[in-house]
Order: sequence, then structure tokens, then C-alpha cells
Amino acid sequence: MSIPEKIAAFPPTFTWGVATSAYQIEGGATADGRGASIWDTFTHTEGKITDASTGDVACDHYHRYAEDVDLIAGLNVDAYRFSIAWPRVQPDGSGAWNEAGFDFYSRLLDKLAEKNVAAHVTLYHWDLPQALEDEGGWLNRETAEHFAVYAAEVARRFGNRVASIATHNEPWCTANLGYGTGQFAPGIARPAAAVSASHHLLLSHGLAMQSMRALNVSAKLGIVLNQWTATPATGSAADIKAAEVEWARSVAWFMDPIFKGSYPELALENNDCSLLSIHENDFNDIRQPIDFLGVNYYFRAYVSTETPPRTPPCLLGVTDMGWEIYPQGLTELLLKLHAEYTLPPVYITENGMAVADQLEGGQVHDQARIDYLKMHLAALHDAMDAGVDVRGYFYWSLMDNFEWNSGYLRRFGLVHVDYDTQQRTLKDSAHWYRNFIKQA
Ligand code: FCB
Repeated sequence: MSIPEKIAAFPPTFTWGVATSAYQIEGGATADGRGASIWDTFTHTEGKITDASTGDVACDHYHRYAEDVDLIAGLNVDAYRFSIAWPRVQPDGSGAWNEAGFDFYSRLLDKLAEKNVAAHVTLYHWDLPQALEDEGGWLNRETAEHFAVYAAEVARRFGNRVASIATHNEPWCTANLGYGTGQFAPGIARPAAAVSASHHLLLSHGLAMQSMRALNVSAKLGIVLNQWTATPATGSAADIKAAEVEWARSVAWFMDPIFKGSYPELALENNDCSLLSIHENDFNDIRQPIDFLGVNYYFRAYVSTETPPRTPPCLLGVTDMGWEIYPQGLTELLLKLHAEYTLPPVYITENGMAVADQLEGGQVHDQARIDYLKMHLAALHDAMDAGVDVRGYFYWSLMDNFEWNSGYLRRFGLVHVDYDTQQRTLKDSAHWYRNFIKQA
């Protein structure tokens, strides 16, 4: 089948969506009682963000959510994935709730319902209340308990108004970039800390699944993981082994506890586990049935043990992030997950590309993004043909936004944002996606 034939052949029940996250779009950083998060602290620390920007205003979505939902509905999508800012609804991460914060999300849900767009909510897209970081953040086991309380409160209020609730977005990033390399908030660079943080993140997921499950809500409950296959750069035994270690440390490290109730041996051997403290019941707590798995796919890992390491061939080029464009990796990843785990229904909760877009005469000709989308949808279709139960696809992102430590320099949106005027402009890719969904 050709690419157009494949992408014309998705099941009619398939969910088409777009995704964002709170800190990257909302702004309103101090509005209506919102508490500070670790990303507020981090972005206000010199030298952390490439363009020295912050998410104080971002896309000002906090004030423009109604017109943004109109924009979303105009794309013909079935669903919108967004995250709740924990410090907006519970400023200190424990104790008092902030009603004005919950009201914002309630208004957003009303507007989505009015437009017939299903809400897919993520509880944690990296914006930990600073007050909890002051107590050790994800290095403190108690953060997991606070998270379960927060999760239950969101589920109690919104659990029958949203299609799904994911506990975490990409805990690999929270742990490794936040506590291992320090590229992301809270900026701690200590590999052993990343391992400890990842355990508490998994524990928090399991505790939150339990606290939400007890409420019997209609929302599907699950988690979103960023994943990749690991390709050995050569056929050498060293490269092959290193690729296995990479898969174990990145993918299996999060999948095994959830699906099998243990950490992979190979990862335990290769991680610095000196700060890892596993309590007796932890794996029982973590290994909770999930209703769906969210997979975020951007690139593969290309693993070389040579010095300097071999770099990926990039036959289809690279994105503006410098990430190899490798659609086939999505098929490979899903097939490998399907072979190694008993998967619940899968959603591709993120996939997309940064392009150095130019706005000219009210238009953005981002053909590269359209090609990227087509190739990844074809690759997704291949995995579904081979038996993987995928129920939906969310493009990252609805609109250009604050791309973490790259600030506003990297544009992922289907919709262009002029940050001076907050003017939104549909790129060619938005028109393509809208027309494609209409025919799907
Ligand atoms: C993912 C994040 C998302 C966005 C994309 C480009 O890792 O979940 O917030 O930054 O990458």
C-alpha cells in the first residue's frame, strides 16, 4: 500500500487529536492564586533557557482558552490532550485546593464539551509545585503520596467529564533530564538521583491509579511514556549489547514495573542504584492495571560504542531539534512493545516535528511537517496492520509554545503563534490535518 492508501485506511472509530501541556501554553503564572512550580523557578534562573525566556505568558492560553478551543474544533479533531498544572489547583502540592484554578479547567471542559471535543487530561507534565521540591521533590518518597491525593481530587471533580486521565507524561524525562543531567527543572545533575526519582515517579503512578480507581469514574486511566527502539550502530557485539542496555534502561525500566512488577536486571546492573530504595510493597503498588498506554514517539536511539560514536544515517533528514526523522521506528517500537508486553489499547499521545517556520503573508508553508505527518501515520498504520491495538493519534503540538530549555526557539505547532501579538495562524499542516481528518 502506498502512503496515501495507508493513511486513508484508519478505522472510523480512531481518535484524532492535538496535544499541549500546561506550562508550555497557559501563562497566567501568578493568576488567581496559582502557586509556583519548579519550571517557574528554573526559567527565572539565569542560563537555564537558551533564549532566556519563561512561561510567564507563553501562549496566554489561560486567558484565551475559549478562542483556542474554537481553533481546536476548527481542525475537526475528536480530542484534545492537555495537562493540569498541579500548582494551579493546589498551590503548595499539599493542603488547600485553589478553587479558582479548578474553575479554569472546569470552564475549559465546558467549552470542549460544547464543541464536542473529548478531553484527555494529563496530571503531571513536569510542573511540580515548588513547595514540594523544597522538601526534596521526586527524591522524597512522600511526593508520591501527595500526588495520589492530587490525582484523586482531580478524578473526583472531573473523572466523569473527561475521556481519559494519564498520571504522568514522560517520567523518563522528569527523572533523567530533571535529576540526572539537570537540563530540565529542577536542574539536578546526579545520575543516582535520576534512578531514585524514577522509582518515586512510578510509585506515585501506582498510588494515583489506586486512589483514582477507588472513585469509579468513567474516564480511562493510564500513563504516557516516551519511548524509542535502540538500534545498534554496527553488528559488533559491543554495539548490540549497548543497545539492549539502552532499551532496558529507558523503556523496560518504566514498562516492566507496571506490567511485570520488577525492574529489568540489565538496567539494575547498569544504573547507579546507590540512592534507590525499594520498599516491600512497592511493586504491588506500581503494578496496577491500566486502561491505556500513551506512547510519545519522536526518534530512535542509535547506539554506538565507538569513540567518537557513530551518528544515525538520517536518510530522511533531521528536525529543527536535530532529531533524526525515522518513521519506521514507530512501527518497530510498537511491534516490540506488543511482542514483549500484554498491552492495553495504545494511544500515540505525542508525535511531531519542530520546523524553522516562516510566517509570510499570513501563511506558513511547512511542507516538511506535512510529509512528517504522512510518513508517521503510514508507519502507525503498518503497526496496526500487524496487530497492535492503537486507538488514537495526537499531534504535538496544537500550536507553537514554550519548548522547555529551548524556550520559544523551536516551533512544533500546527498553528503558528506570534508571541508579540498572540496572533494564531493556521500553518499549511493544520489545513492538511483538518482536511485529512474530515475524510478519515
Ligand atoms: C516531549 C514533551 C513535550 C514536548 C515535546 C517536543 O518530550 O512531552 O512537552 O516538549 O517533547
